[in-house]
Amino acid sequence: MTYLITGGAGFVGSHLADALLARGERVVCVDNFNGYYTPERKRRNLAAALEQPGFTLVEADIRDSAALEQVFSDYKPTHVAHLAAMAGVRASIAQPAIYEAVNVGGTLTILDLARRFAVENLVVASTSSVYGQTTKLPFEEGDPTDRPLSPYSATKKAAEVLAYTYHHLYGVPTTVVRFFTVYGPRGRPDMTPHLFMDRMVKGEPITLFNGGINLYRDYTYVGDIVAGVAAALAANLAFEIVNLGNAQPVQLCDFVQLLERISGYQAIIEAVPLPATEPLTTFADTRKARRLLGYHPTTGVEEGLSRFWAWYHHEVLGGGRR
Ligand SMILES: NC(=O)c1ccc[n+]([C@@H]2O[C@H](COP(=O)([O-])OP(=O)(O)OC[C@H]3O[C@@H](n4cnc5c(N)ncnc54)[C@H](O)[C@@H]3O)[C@@H](O)[C@H]2O)c1
Repeated sequence: MTYLITGGAGFVGSHLADALLARGERVVCVDNFNGYYTPERKRRNLAAALEQPGFTLVEADIRDSAALEQVFSDYKPTHVAHLAAMAGVRASIAQPAIYEAVNVGGTLTILDLARRFAVENLVVASTSSVYGQTTKLPFEEGDPTDRPLSPYSATKKAAEVLAYTYHHLYGVPTTVVRFFTVYGPRGRPDMTPHLFMDRMVKGEPITLFNGGINLYRDYTYVGDIVAGVAAALAANLAFEIVNLGNAQPVQLCDFVQLLERISGYQAIIEAVPLPATEPLTTFADTRKARRLLGYHPTTGVEEGLSRFWAWYHHEVLGGGRR
């Protein structure tokens, strides 16, 4: 079996690569090392994988269908985890066209190659943000997702819909996995907790929507997400959409207090109104994931944040002052 991971140098993708390599699988990563955050960080994400004989890195853009066809032809992946995306919610307002080109057009390229090369199992990464602003909690996979709050969310919804159409027409077994606020070592610098830590270390204020009060996020540890994706790659499903969350939303002001306690740095909080792109709460119903994938997240937010902090302290601060 050969596993292709698109976006394999990114936060989630690099952890998935490490987990599959640890099992002795052959892994091919495709990534274009774009500048959304530093490509050097992405190369460091792959440092351990690059030491493994079963690992191949291909620098290519998923919008380049000829380059991707070459990858499928050269490596004949049996399993594909499609994680490459432009992933920032707020950045998608400034650059909707590139979000559409990568997240919709690029996904179409992957779906088409998965069909032409008769991939055995395809997993497509989506997001809790497709649920938009809703008071119905927790979020179930069958809930309405036709009112996304940002171009990013709209493009991920479009990718989900295309994945269904391709499965319907060509039968490639496909699981769409909706991730809920992933955090942990190698976390993206544009996301909490990395963004908050950067400001706390510099003594700069952190911006908290609504002051972090009555604002809840279902923070999910990256190791649990990777276990869910690996289970989806191994599952024998036709077409399914599955939430991968922690099912325990944390109020943002409590999250910041925990980060302060673990890191020893104080946060200066600047409360701002909730922007139109942000829901008040995210909260995964994970019963379907448990039933179909045996998904069972095991890392609570205190333990997960401690692991994030250990990584951040070493990787970002170089082991310096704490
Ligand atoms: N991190 C989260 O909390 C979260 C939540 C919901 C959904 N997701 C989804 O999970 C997936 C992985 O997210 P992440 O947090 O690891 O983000 P990330 O930005 O760290 O990883 C994405 C990777 O894709 C690569 N990429 C982007 N455009 C590309 C292109 N055109 N061609 C080839 N490679 C390209 C980037 O260089 C990056 O390495 C994404 O699909 C994202 O939408 C993430």
